[in-house]
Amino acid sequence: MPLVPPIKSQGIKTKLVDWIASNVEDTQFDRWVEPFMGTGVVGFNIRPKKALMCDSNPHIIKFYNGIKNKEITSAIVKEFLTEEGKKLLATEGEYYYEVRKRFNEKGASLDFLFLSRSCFNGMMRFNRKGGYNVPFCKKPNRFAQALVTKITNQVKNIAQVIELGDFTFKCQDFQTTLDEVQATDLVYADPPYIGRHVDYFDSWSEAEEQILHDKIIESDAKYMLSTWLSNKYRTNEFIFSIWENSNIATKEHFYHVGAKESNRNAMNEALVSNVILRNSIPTKDMKLKMDKGESPLISQEKMYEIPPQLTLKLEEEETEKTMYKPRSSK
Ligand SMILES: C[S@@+](CC[C@H](N)C(=O)[O-])C[C@H]1O[C@@H](n2cnc3c(N)ncnc32)[C@H](O)[C@@H]1O
Repeated sequence: MPLVPPIKSQGIKTKLVDWIASNVEDTQFDRWVEPFMGTGVVGFNIRPKKALMCDSNPHIIKFYNGIKNKEITSAIVKEFLTEEGKKLLATEGEYYYEVRKRFNEKGASLDFLFLSRSCFNGMMRFNRKGGYNVPFCKKPNRFAQALVTKITNQVKNIAQVIELGDFTFKCQDFQTTLDEVQATDLVYADPPYIGRHVDYFDSWSEAEEQILHDKIIESDAKYMLSTWLSNKYRTNEFIFSIWENSNIATKEHFYHVGAKESNRNAMNEALVSNVILRNSIPTKDMKLKMDKGESPLISQEKMYEIPPQLTLKLEEEETEKTMYKPRSSK
């Protein structure tokens, strides 16, 4: 079970974090760098010795700096959510909108946590003026004791990871983060999806994807990019243009749209890297596979390549056999 952070967002990688972590395991690096940390679930599960975690959303950075500086502790969170939860219940949910207004005026981290855990579907959305605008989840008893305990434990766990490692959190654009990258770093990039939605802190274009690529390559660092490869309707062609000289590993992931089981949509997720990942193939080979109509999911058989020594041994055995002459033929 991965470590779950207290903040939620629609792009959270909780379901893919084990797969991503298994690909990081064999890679050497001095510092973990995330230009788009979001909830931070990936970096917190990798638990690097040293990390630079950044995002353009100031509320995320302020929240994690609050945990790091111990301004936000599990005890403070417990008390705050218990008290505010009572007001939410007493007003049949109306209090949510009071907290939202207060947060949009003052930006307090505990209010951010309150909204993140009681909004509709755990979404993180900001309007054009940078105001948080997600409606209430319509559960006035949202902060019942069980959930408060769960969130309190999540804060405690993340606080421990931050304390054990050397974590730096910075609110800055990805370009500034990439300017700080060194060749011995591992950059894990999970940018917003192109054209999926436009949010004050969360929009993305082809030009930005190109800058991301160019700056990573320029840094000479190892990188892993999380992105989508394809679904029933579309293929992410940027993998074959902008990221054409990389390796790609894929994993099928199911999303639910609404409550019905029939609305289950499969998405092929990708990890694109300059490192040879478990079950990865060159991006160019993936393009050939898909052009032939083959599945983009890479089969288990490709997992371990035959080491060169073994191939050599087989050749030697083969040569010996052909050279062997039975005694009787002399
Ligand atoms: C897909 S989410 C990352 C999700 C994260 N990996 C997780 O599991 O929670 C993308 C993040 O990029 C941030 N972002 C968007 N544009 C950015 C930019 N230009 N520079 C830095 N961060 C940006 C958003 O605020 C958002 O948190």
